[in-house]
Amino acid sequence: MYDLTVIIPTFKEEANIRTIITEVDAVFRKNALNGEILVVDDNSPDNTIAIVNELKGTKTNVNLLVRTSDHGLSQSVADGFLHASSEIFVVIDADMSHPPALIAKMYDEIRAGNDVVIGSRYMEGGGIKKWPLKRRIISLGATFLGRLLFPEITDPVSGFFAIRKNVVAQAQLKPRGYKILLEVLGKGVWEHDKEIPFEFSDREIGTSKLKIKTIIEYAQQVADITLYSFVHHQSAAWREWKKVFKFGIVGISGIVINQGVLVALKEYAGFSIPVASICAIQLAILNNFLWNDTWTFKSKGQPQRLSSRWQRLVAFEAVSLGGAVINFAILNAFVMFLAMDYQIANIIGILLGFIWNFFVNRRFTWVTKRT
Ligand code: GDD
Ligand code: MN
Repeated sequence: MYDLTVIIPTFKEEANIRTIITEVDAVFRKNALNGEILVVDDNSPDNTIAIVNELKGTKTNVNLLVRTSDHGLSQSVADGFLHASSEIFVVIDADMSHPPALIAKMYDEIRAGNDVVIGSRYMEGGGIKKWPLKRRIISLGATFLGRLLFPEITDPVSGFFAIRKNVVAQAQLKPRGYKILLEVLGKGVWEHDKEIPFEFSDREIGTSKLKIKTIIEYAQQVADITLYSFVHHQSAAWREWKKVFKFGIVGISGIVINQGVLVALKEYAGFSIPVASICAIQLAILNNFLWNDTWTFKSKGQPQRLSSRWQRLVAFEAVSLGGAVINFAILNAFVMFLAMDYQIANIIGILLGFIWNFFVNRRFTWVTKRT
């Protein structure tokens, strides 16, 4: 049994395949790893298959899977998961965009207890070399969508990652397009993740196969993962959705408190409306904060980046103020400029304020410390 399997998806990589296999094998030797190299090729019409077969003659740890149907990068990686002969998988591009030396580090991080280890271009220390502006914009858009599902992961669409086999053993993956990692994160079963920075360097030889169709498929994939998580509650995407629901329930409790305190102070304590309202809003914010801090975003073991409750309260107050401004601005703008019914305008304002409050708090107020 191998310690790990390095899965290399390939399509027309005759110019790169020899180098990547040699380099990965060198990493195995240097770190005394008993590693398997599994090339998953989509029946390339060039010499890729012949070269791998030639290398198989001298290296017994090289295996080749040639696929003849359901062509695609993600499909190939998912097939690699099924054919790998170990419990730890690393996925790496063939075109030397990913530094093979990091494979050993990823392996160590999995052994240290992480279920998923991601090579990240977008965390401190990471980067991208030689990408045209268009690619950068597309990638940032894709990353943003992915971060809606996994706010704490900086590069949820990286092509360079390691997982434990049991993350995907039960998952019903529907691989397509380029974003296999997002599929794994969304539908897999995992608890601990770790990101390692690396510098992505675009291929020297050959061309990237990323097309417009890929982008459309990606949007479908995000929607599909969301639906899947509503049914499969052990999936990681469900963990995020649970937070959205809890945040919503807490928000409703805040509305009740806001209204109740306003009426009580005005009717029974004789407060003026502005003063009563300020007290009511403050109490509602405090109520929401305490529930969110102890329930919605209760972190199991992992320390919060804002370590003291007071820091988090200040952040929450600031974000809530932003949410209130959004609500106020939308209500007034829609009534004034679109002549919209004020109740409908307010509901839209409340919804947008809610979305703001959730995502900004998730990213800044309740985010766990990452090392
Ligand atoms: N089997 C198979 N089938 N392999 C493929 C296919 C396919 O249809 N298409 C591409 N590959 C292989 C390539 O041979 C290469 O090893 C790897 O998948 C990446 O392909 P590229 O075409 O070089 O991808 P890229 O550089 O544009 O995209 C990379 O970065 C993205 C993030 O921006 C990849 O790592 C993506 O997975 C990643 O999402
Ligand atoms: Mn590439």
